[in-house]
Amino acid sequence: IQKTRVFSGIQPTGQITLGNYLGALKQFVNVQHTSDAFYCVVDLHAITVPQDPKQLRERILDLTSLYIAVGLDPTQSTLFVQSDVAEHSELGWILQCVAHMGELSRMTQYKEKSDGKDSVTVGLFTYPTLMAADILLYQSSFVPVGDDQKQHLELTRDIAERFNARFGKTFTLPEVLMLKQGARIMSLDDPSNKMSKSNPNPQSRIEMLDPPDLIRKKMSRAVTDSDREVRYDPKLKPAVSNLLTIYSLSANKSIEEIEHDYQGKGYGDFKKDLAEILVAMLDPIQKRYAEVRNSGEIEGILARGAERARIAAKPTLDLVKRQVGL
Ligand code: ADP
Ligand code: NA
Repeated sequence: IQKTRVFSGIQPTGQITLGNYLGALKQFVNVQHTSDAFYCVVDLHAITVPQDPKQLRERILDLTSLYIAVGLDPTQSTLFVQSDVAEHSELGWILQCVAHMGELSRMTQYKEKSDGKDSVTVGLFTYPTLMAADILLYQSSFVPVGDDQKQHLELTRDIAERFNARFGKTFTLPEVLMLKQGARIMSLDDPSNKMSKSNPNPQSRIEMLDPPDLIRKKMSRAVTDSDREVRYDPKLKPAVSNLLTIYSLSANKSIEEIEHDYQGKGYGDFKKDLAEILVAMLDPIQKRYAEVRNSGEIEGILARGAERARIAAKPTLDLVKRQVGL
């Protein structure tokens, strides 16, 4: 039997955060055995904003190593780099000719990333059409992502439906695969912003490769509130609720259980314990990362991944071209 097709990607920019892990990467690992998964290092998305070429190359290898370190098995999942598979760009162009200016203008991520900048690339604007191509190229049924990608997923479905209606059934309509809790991990310094690798303040996030003492320091400085109660209430206690979500996902305990455990205790104990949980969770990942990153095997894994990805992508692109009359 054919397994369900899954696709997702992460940009090789900055240092991968706990938000990326809990919201996306962990889901990648969870579904890899029950699906035919394609996980991409989306380097073409990264260059929508300026990147240092040498550093970009290194970060592609860093991110691939992290994919493996968190538990992705390159014999189970197809791990590859977006720019190695030219079909992404080719379908991306065709979809630019299906997408409308108006719908792209409504993308909140574009509005946020372009806000206040006087030179914004065309690529930053059309980026969601390339993301649509990434997903549709593999006839993906499910796309594990964090909450910030939901709008792009909806656009992908709109583009696919429009294409199918105009040219005949071509694309599978993908569905978002998102956590009920943890799809949007917030910043440690300000719970109204999502935790992001592009935030200039490193105190706002835990990075996957942060050493134990830095994790402890960041956790002790994480904002809470003037109350003393460890209680989940995203509206009135957003900072504490965010820490509870992180705790729950990292310790595999329900929020209710954790609330109960900290009844009558202050935030100090709670944050100290959370720091140790994160240290223990990240330690094996960091050890494995160091091994993998220095193994000399990454380039080979990516070459084999690109080969498999091309084989999966080509039939879709061939069909698209026939449908369009190219
Ligand atoms: P970033 O937004 O950190 O630069 P990407 O845009 O490369 O990272 O996103 C990679 C994946 O991580 C996407 O699926 C995205 O939705 C998810 N993600 C990013 N930040 C968070 C967060 N704070 N909480 C949950 N998921 C997140
Ligand atoms: Na994002």
